[in-house]
Amino acid sequence: MEERARSCLLRSKATLEQDIKASYLMDHMVSDGVLTNDEEAMVLNKVTRREQAAALLEVLLRKDNRAYISLYNALIRESYGDLANLLHSDLPLLSPEGERSFADGVSPSVQAILSDGGVPQRPVVFVSRPALLNLIRQKLYQLQKTSGWVTVFGMAGSGKSVMAAEAVRDHALIKDCFPDGIHWLSVGQCERSDLLVRMQSLCFRLEQGQSSEASHRPPCSVEEAKERLRFLILRRFPRSLLILDDVWDSSVLRSFDIQCRVLLTTRNRGLTDSVSGTRFEVPVENGLDEDKALEILSLYVNGKPQKLPEQARSIVSECKGSPLVVSLIGALLREFPDRWSYYLRLLQRKQFKRIRKSSSYDYEALDQAMDASLQVLEPEHQNLYRDLSIMQKDIKVPAKVLSVLWGLELEEVEDVLQEFVNKSLLFRDCNQRPYLYYLHDLQLDFLTEQNRDQIAELHKKMVRQYQKFYNESPPSSGDKECLYWYHFLPYHMAKAGLSKELYSLMFSLDWVKEKAQVMGSAHLINDYVEYGEILDKENSEVRLQFQEFLSLNGHQLEQRPFPDVVQLALSQPACSEVYRQAALSGLGEQKQ
Ligand SMILES: Nc1ncnc2c1ncn2[C@@H]1O[C@H](COP(=O)(O)OP(=O)(O)O)[C@@H](O)[C@H]1O
Ligand SMILES: [Mg+2]
Repeated sequence: MEERARSCLLRSKATLEQDIKASYLMDHMVSDGVLTNDEEAMVLNKVTRREQAAALLEVLLRKDNRAYISLYNALIRESYGDLANLLHSDLPLLSPEGERSFADGVSPSVQAILSDGGVPQRPVVFVSRPALLNLIRQKLYQLQKTSGWVTVFGMAGSGKSVMAAEAVRDHALIKDCFPDGIHWLSVGQCERSDLLVRMQSLCFRLEQGQSSEASHRPPCSVEEAKERLRFLILRRFPRSLLILDDVWDSSVLRSFDIQCRVLLTTRNRGLTDSVSGTRFEVPVENGLDEDKALEILSLYVNGKPQKLPEQARSIVSECKGSPLVVSLIGALLREFPDRWSYYLRLLQRKQFKRIRKSSSYDYEALDQAMDASLQVLEPEHQNLYRDLSIMQKDIKVPAKVLSVLWGLELEEVEDVLQEFVNKSLLFRDCNQRPYLYYLHDLQLDFLTEQNRDQIAELHKKMVRQYQKFYNESPPSSGDKECLYWYHFLPYHMAKAGLSKELYSLMFSLDWVKEKAQVMGSAHLINDYVEYGEILDKENSEVRLQFQEFLSLNGHQLEQRPFPDVVQLALSQPACSEVYRQAALSGLGEQKQ
């Protein structure tokens, strides 16, 4: 390790020893290849957390630059952002040779490109799938000189997203084919208005750092967003790759049919039939090979695949090689190493029988594994996990939202979430601060199925907790949490069957003003369409009046500084509810 790095590590040693949990960090460092299993075992042999931390740092101080960088990356991934900052200024620069020799091409420069583009990190326990990986990379190389589409398709939970992210974790590929960057977008089964929100955030990301046009207003429609993207990609990022993760619908793809390079993951083959340009396909098998699945298990229990007990093969076969299910079981076995026979029996029990017409694959094993993972949580945490049934697919939430839902301190929430993450019950996106948490689609299916009768109640809890927390004034910070509420509060109210509250929310000029200020008007207009049926039961006239107000003033509401909404509303016809509220609030202000 170079002198500067070593000196920084020595200076930070006391602070690091105080805070870090060596066992979590070592998972990453072993998979980076900078720490051996023996070294890991030696550290774990120490009794207290602090002694383990000290032992780990002692080992690392004897190693090279890669160990320092790996520690830095592990700190980032394990939520120790503040500690990573201590090491940041002395990160060693790797020579081009160093870059290439760095484990699996994940040099700091690759890491930076990927995290700028929002590409998810590797799961903590990860096995390589070289044949599949090479196939995807080979197809991506076909996009070196021309725009086009690479489709990675396969069953849910087969590892498509993980492999798509892995494919671009490669210095040479980025340099040769996509020097202008990689941009990841989680799409999912989304409505047009949600697609717009996602496209807006992509535009926002691409426009960042452009001082001259920094004050761009967000695009108001999917069509406008498409044009904006076309322009941005053509002018600023011509040789970049867009990764569209989990696309369900070909109409989504038409919104990205802008002569760019796209890698997409999907369950439906043939989605690209209706778009223009060169197309390539890569199928993903439903399950991992037995060897690979065994490797996952052995990584969880810190052993060698050859040394796994005899039940391991049967477990893998009951899981049908699904990486998601094997990961859940692996996390359980890490905690309870004596339970191989028990978990095998559970998987064989097949108590969950669900027929899903949409797919020929059966998810019994997943349900069993989820159930088993939940059983080992404390009852209180089981309840907290059940509350996650109200999450929306492909929507990542910050811990703060859950701290409102659960009525717990942020720190407590983070501890609970860490436990879920350790059990593979939840996933964490560390690309952004604050970190965002999400469930795999299939886990959400399991939850909604299991708590079918309570879903409305759970949504109601969400609404009540929001109201309790924000009873003085609505959220106004403009951060991720605030965005979440403006985006999804009507959704939770609708799902909770709280129609009256939905009317009073949406038929309120204050809400319109606040939401437009945070999110722009397009999403707001869409809410009136989306919940039209419910709102019309109260008053379809008023709904139309609000919608009309927004369509007329949509462009104004995108301007910054933000216009005076009461003034705008006063130009509505006097019979409009929008006008009435504006007049009332004007009076209120005069009195004050
Ligand atoms: N190569 C892998 N090594 C280890 N675990 C994996 C691997 N691929 C997938 N997994 C596990 O399976 C889960 C589902 O994978 P994901 O890529 O999200 O599936 P898909 O996108 O096909 O639905 C991941 O969250 C991870 O826990
Ligand atoms: Mg996926």
